[in-house]
Amino acid sequence: MQHLAEPEADPEKVRLEQVAALTDPATIRYLEQIGVREGWTCAEVGAGAGSIARWLSNRVGHFGKVHAIDIEPKYMEGVTAPNLEVRQQDITTTPLEAGTYDLVHCKILLMHLADRERVLGEFAKALKPGGYLLVEEADIRSIQRVDPPSPLLTRAATALETFFYFGGADPGYGMKLLPAFRRTGLKFLGTDCQLTAVQAGSPEMQTVALSLAKLAPMITKIGLMGRKEVEAAFDQLQQPSDTVLYTPITVAVWGQRAED
Ligand SMILES: C[S@@+](CC[C@H](N)C(=O)[O-])C[C@H]1O[C@@H](n2cnc3c(N)ncnc32)[C@H](O)[C@@H]1O
Repeated sequence: MQHLAEPEADPEKVRLEQVAALTDPATIRYLEQIGVREGWTCAEVGAGAGSIARWLSNRVGHFGKVHAIDIEPKYMEGVTAPNLEVRQQDITTTPLEAGTYDLVHCKILLMHLADRERVLGEFAKALKPGGYLLVEEADIRSIQRVDPPSPLLTRAATALETFFYFGGADPGYGMKLLPAFRRTGLKFLGTDCQLTAVQAGSPEMQTVALSLAKLAPMITKIGLMGRKEVEAAFDQLQQPSDTVLYTPITVAVWGQRAED
């Protein structure tokens, strides 16, 4: 069992891969619905461990191109293909090139950025005429729902949410995405959301546990929870039991730039 004092090697890569494993099936459904096809030029922004960039690179083929963009691209080591270019880029200071992409996709990115509405507008401008934008953002408030009720886990969920606010992120941005997307002026095509119920002690619960482990030092430092309390919450997530909680809700919205 993983313990706060003994983190696994590279837990951030494991965490990114587990977030992707939970959320990629829905992302791929949306990409299929949009109709991504051979020859497209795509930007995967905030690409994380690169699983969707890899999927896109397989889909667009030899004549297509994928730009996998991340401020910290080291977790994409090993994600390589002739049509895939990994770019280290801070999307808040270096925008995507205007009028360039058939598809721009991001997942769980904008909620972390202070200037998220401007960046969303730049994604819309980066589309070619007829190009598609797919944005997926989380609402982490769903993790407060625990059954059977656990004041400790609810307190940990509240601490995570408060920490996000303090750090300039918007933990409920998923719910704001739809009106923000409409303000871009793109043609709205669809929206959906997904979440998973995860049980204490299951491999899926590791994703929630790793997120808590990542933020635990900051949460205790600013006094949102004591270290012992965080460790008790961590144990409750990892010990097999009937305790179930929801993952963050991921809200997806997609749309299209008008043809010229
Ligand atoms: C929560 S992870 C999500 C990763 C991936 N989209 C997924 O859903 O599996 C957010 C990613 O965005 C990247 N990121 C954060 N701020 C960024 C910025 N300003 N420019 C580019 N990438 C950024 C992080 O390094 C991280 O890989």
